[in-house]
Amino acid sequence: MPSDLTDIPRTLWPRHIAIIMEGNGRWAQRQGLPRIEGHRRGVASVRRTTEECARLGIEQLTLYCLSSENWKRPQHELDFLMHLLEQYMIEERATIMDQNIRVAVIGRRDGIPDSVEREMEKTIAMSSTNTGLRLCLAVNYGGRGELVDAVRRIAERVHSGNLAAAEITEKTISDSVYTAGMPDPDLLVRTAGEMRVSNFLLWQISYAEIWVTKHCWPEFSEQDLQLAIRDYASRDRRFGGLKEMTPQ
Ligand code: IPE
Ligand code: IPE
Ligand code: MG
Repeated sequence: MPSDLTDIPRTLWPRHIAIIMEGNGRWAQRQGLPRIEGHRRGVASVRRTTEECARLGIEQLTLYCLSSENWKRPQHELDFLMHLLEQYMIEERATIMDQNIRVAVIGRRDGIPDSVEREMEKTIAMSSTNTGLRLCLAVNYGGRGELVDAVRRIAERVHSGNLAAAEITEKTISDSVYTAGMPDPDLLVRTAGEMRVSNFLLWQISYAEIWVTKHCWPEFSEQDLQLAIRDYASRDRRFGGLKEMTPQ
């Protein structure tokens, strides 16, 4: 098996990879470290994975950074996560620009400290005309909340007479969720072994291929990413059709 993915035809590669970055706390506890050290090491995995996706020419990488349910965690852990996010937005700017990466953030902005939001906006604006990998960070994101927000937007259009209820299609909804204009994820990766989606991209993953590794997020490597892509390329995506659609 070649160490790179050069043997896989480009048409079989995922355009969009979404990752549920799980197991930071478990990884840290296993090393006898506090949970927040797992988050710190998780940032190194974010950097590594983003650079590898950019190098491989992947179109979009979406990372689940903070769910709308994660606010239940102790305040000191949340404060640390916000600190890491702010630092990331500042420290990664040069690399982001250097690698032609375009940053987007999805999720609700409430609860995000002003200073973090400012740095986020700065990086988004600065990278907005880049044409390489789109790095989409899901922060204070919840799939159900996203659908609530989309339904509200659509209902307002109907209420104001700009849209007839009978004209609402799947495209109306795709255009109203946070990911409007982005392709749906082809490959959904989850680290740390659990088999659930935890309220991530519920609308968008309807036909995503799921790949789960036992490795925790801080130990997720370029090799894991390549394994996931290789496995994805071997899948038979039928979208409800049949394996070989022979003309009748
Ligand atoms: C994932 O790691 C990162 C976030 C949810 C912010 P966790 O913090 O959930 O780590 P585990 O799953 O408890 O090990
Ligand atoms: C999912 O991880 C959210 C993120 C990776 C940001 P959680 O740790 O919140 O998921 P559950 O609670 O195990 O489902
Ligand atoms: Mg977790």
